[in-house]
Amino acid sequence: MQNESETVVKSRTPLKYREFNIDQIRDDFPILKRTVNGKQLVYLDNAATTQKPQSVIDATTHYYTFENANIHRGLHFLSEVATESYEQARLKVKEYINAMSASEIIFVRGATEAINLLANTMCRAGIIGEGDEIIITEMEHHANIVPWQLMCERNKAKLKVVPIDDNGDIIVGEYDKLINDKTKLVSIVHISNALGTINPVKEIIKTAHSRGVPVIIDGSQAVQHQAVDVQELDCDFYVFSGHKMYGPTGIGILYGKTKMLENLPPYQGGGDMIRKVTFEKTTFDDLPNKFEAGTPNIAGGIGLGVAVDYLKSFNMSNIIKHEEELLNYATEKLLQIEGLRIIGNAKKKSSVVSFVIDGIHPYDIGTIIDTDGIAIRTGHHCTQPIMQRYNLPATARASFALYNTLEEVDKLVVGIKKVISMFK
Ligand code: ALA
Repeated sequence: MQNESETVVKSRTPLKYREFNIDQIRDDFPILKRTVNGKQLVYLDNAATTQKPQSVIDATTHYYTFENANIHRGLHFLSEVATESYEQARLKVKEYINAMSASEIIFVRGATEAINLLANTMCRAGIIGEGDEIIITEMEHHANIVPWQLMCERNKAKLKVVPIDDNGDIIVGEYDKLINDKTKLVSIVHISNALGTINPVKEIIKTAHSRGVPVIIDGSQAVQHQAVDVQELDCDFYVFSGHKMYGPTGIGILYGKTKMLENLPPYQGGGDMIRKVTFEKTTFDDLPNKFEAGTPNIAGGIGLGVAVDYLKSFNMSNIIKHEEELLNYATEKLLQIEGLRIIGNAKKKSSVVSFVIDGIHPYDIGTIIDTDGIAIRTGHHCTQPIMQRYNLPATARASFALYNTLEEVDKLVVGIKKVISMFK
C-alpha cells in the first residue's frame, strides 16, 4: 500500500478503458471467492447492495491508515490531504453524472436521506403548500413515498400516483392527465428496484418542465447500470446511494441544479455549513457546504470516488451489454420453469428479475437456495404498493451486477428446480 495520497489519486484516473474480462473483473471482488454453506457464493442480490472491489476497500483503509483527519477545518498537513481526497471524490462524481459544477454535488447518507432532505427543505421553503400536488408513481421505493406523505401531512398537500400497467410500465397517458396547475413537483424512479423497469424519465421531465414543474429522479438503480448525464436529462435533482454502485454504505449523492439548491434552506444546522454565527443570527455557507452540516462520512466519500473510478475504467456500453445478456438469459431460463411467473415485463428493463412460483412462498425459495450459497432477495423490496398492485405478498428477486456470469444464472435455475421438487 502506498502512503503518498497524490500517487493514489493519479492511479485512480484511467488512461483508457479496461477490457471487459469477466475473470479479471471477478478477481477485483475478494468476497466473490468465499463460500457460503460450503458452496461457492453466487451473489444475485445486487439491487440490495453491490459487492466492493479491492480498490474501494483499499481506499477506505488508506484514508484511515494514512490520511485520517477532519476536513475543511485544519491547516495542518493531514487535514489538507483528507480535504483534497474528499473534494477529489466530489469532482469525480460531478464528472460521472456530468453535473455543471462540483458544488451541485451534495454528499448525503444515501438516496433516502437525499429525498428526505428535499421533502423537508421544500416543505419549509413553502414551495409546496396547502392544496398543492406532488406526483410520484406506483413503482416507487418507500424512500420516494414516505417522505412525501410526511410532507403532505404537514403542509396539507396531496400525493398523486401514476399507475403502472400489468407489465410494470408506467401509464404515461395517466401522468399526462394527472399533471395540472396544482402540480408543484414530480419525483420518479429512473429504474425500478423491484421490477427492473427503465422509465422514460426524459419524456417525464420534458412534460413537467413544459408546465414549469421541477423533477427529482431517484437514480439508485440506474447510475451503476447506465450512463447518466444530468444535463442531458435536464432533471432538477438526481439522487443515488454509493453502496449500490460498488461504493461504501452510508454515503450517497444529492445532485441539484445550482438555482434549485440555492432556493432551498439548509437541512441540518451545525459545523461546516455556516459563514457566521452569532446568537442573534447565523448566515450560511455557499453550496455544497450549506447542506453538509457536521463531520461527514469522509472515508465513505473517498471510497465512493474510487467506486466511480472503477465504473469509469470500463466502457459503459460493455457493462450494459453484459448485464443485458445476463437479464435476457435469466428471463429465458426462468420462463422455462413450470409454474414460475416473472413480475415485471416492461418494454425496457435492466438488471432485475422478480418472480413468483405457484404454491411456494418466496421466503421458502430464498431460504432453500441460500443453503446452496445462492443469495437473492425475497420480500416486498421496500415497494409494498407494487406488491399490492399485483396482489402478491412478496416476490423472489435476482438482481445482477457487472461481475455476474451466465453460469451463476444456471446455478440459480438448478436451485429453483430443487426447491420445486422439494414442494412436490
Ligand atoms: N432498496 C434495496 C433493495 O431493492 C434495499 O433491495
